[in-house]
Amino acid sequence: MSNQAKLELDGKSYTLPVVIGTEDEKAVDVSALRADTGYITLDEGYGNTGACKSKITFIDGEKGILRYRGISIEELAEKSSFVETAYLIIYGHLPTSAELQKFSDLLTSNQNLHEDMKYHFEGFPSSSHPMAILSAMINAASCFYPDLMQGDRSHFDEHAARLISQVRTIAAFSYRKSVGKPIIYPKNGYKFTANFLHMLFSDPYDDYEIKPEVARALDLIFLLHADHEQNCSTSTVRMVASSQANLYASCSAGVCALWGPLHGGANQAVVEMLQQIHASGDDGSKFIAAAKDKASGKRLMGFGHRVYKNHDPRAKIIKKSCDEVLRSLKIDDPLLNIAVKLEEVALRDSYFVERKLYPNVDFYSGIIMRALGIPVEMFTVLFAIGRMPGWIANYKEIADDPKGRICRPRQVYVGQSLNSYVPMSTRK
Ligand code: ACO
Repeated sequence: MSNQAKLELDGKSYTLPVVIGTEDEKAVDVSALRADTGYITLDEGYGNTGACKSKITFIDGEKGILRYRGISIEELAEKSSFVETAYLIIYGHLPTSAELQKFSDLLTSNQNLHEDMKYHFEGFPSSSHPMAILSAMINAASCFYPDLMQGDRSHFDEHAARLISQVRTIAAFSYRKSVGKPIIYPKNGYKFTANFLHMLFSDPYDDYEIKPEVARALDLIFLLHADHEQNCSTSTVRMVASSQANLYASCSAGVCALWGPLHGGANQAVVEMLQQIHASGDDGSKFIAAAKDKASGKRLMGFGHRVYKNHDPRAKIIKKSCDEVLRSLKIDDPLLNIAVKLEEVALRDSYFVERKLYPNVDFYSGIIMRALGIPVEMFTVLFAIGRMPGWIANYKEIADDPKGRICRPRQVYVGQSLNSYVPMSTRK
């Protein structure tokens, strides 16, 4: 394997160092390219750009492998919980029982929002999308902790736990606000995911009955979303963190990036697509034809991935969990049948095969969330709750790097060259 790359430019030859990761991922280090040659690299959409070295998550998109801190997603899904996995992702190792207890205690003791935060909820129209409320409220939460504003990082553990815990409280409050119901406070006795269900669905004098299989299915969704290396939202968090903005501001930016339908918003878009197909009486074949036709502006939502050119391993786990949840809750959802049909057809269709488009994590997660009674606008919010440990770990990696530099890409300018100001009276 070569440890140098050779480049010929303008009749001169240059040597560029090659960096090799622990799983043999190879990169040409171009950090000195502009200084040495006057050229920059151009990679619109960053499909070939390694923006950092990271120790958190490994993905092999060709083989369909996903590992957090070296442990396969399949093993974590079977044996771990969201909270334990969050610890693993942030701190780099599985916790001892004392470490896990301390982390859980921190989550519990930080789960209540500052009472003054409640007034912010009142200012939003009840039709607000909960992702807008979530990002605004995470940013607003930073106002209550002056140490953050002063760049003091000595309370990192507490802030990390507070964010993981409070993003769930904010999410539940924003849901209650959107349906005009009173806010339900978290209960100390409940575990992380059961507490979320309690805050979503209990009423002041009537506790929601938490079914273990429901709590487990939701916990698994959080765990499967906990990190995914340099996706759009995580890169956004790192970008903001690189300016030394605080943890809350960085993660609030991550929520905004996650919101779009090409990223975390896809879980909502999948269910809306399935509902449309169902309502139109199409068996899915018309929609597949439209998704292949660029002029239609449609895509098969929940299909395709920038990195996975094989099955998304999370999609396989979610599909199995989806079958189990629907069976256990005795739900026969016509949307599931449409999704299964779409998957079968797409996986045989040369358009999808040639482009290596497989179901991604969002294809079945929405059907589970629907079965659990979670409204469609909340789907992306649930993704954000799950992704918080990954954002925090990536923030920590940036903040802990003594050689860290602000992220500041370059561009190739293709606009107007030097031009003159034209007075209004002579403009055409
Ligand atoms: N339906 C139909 N065609 C598709 C789809 C799709 N879902 N996804 C990609 N394609 C086609 C593109 O039109 C393009 O075709 P072409 O080569 O003929 O021009 C080709 O496949 C490559 O697609 P790109 O858009 O270049 O792939 P990119 O890596 O930029 O995008 C993305 C990846 C955004 C996930 C894309 O596959 C997509 O839009 N999928 C649907 C939305 C979705 O499910 N997003 C969730 C992703 S997972 C996550 O963020 C958690």
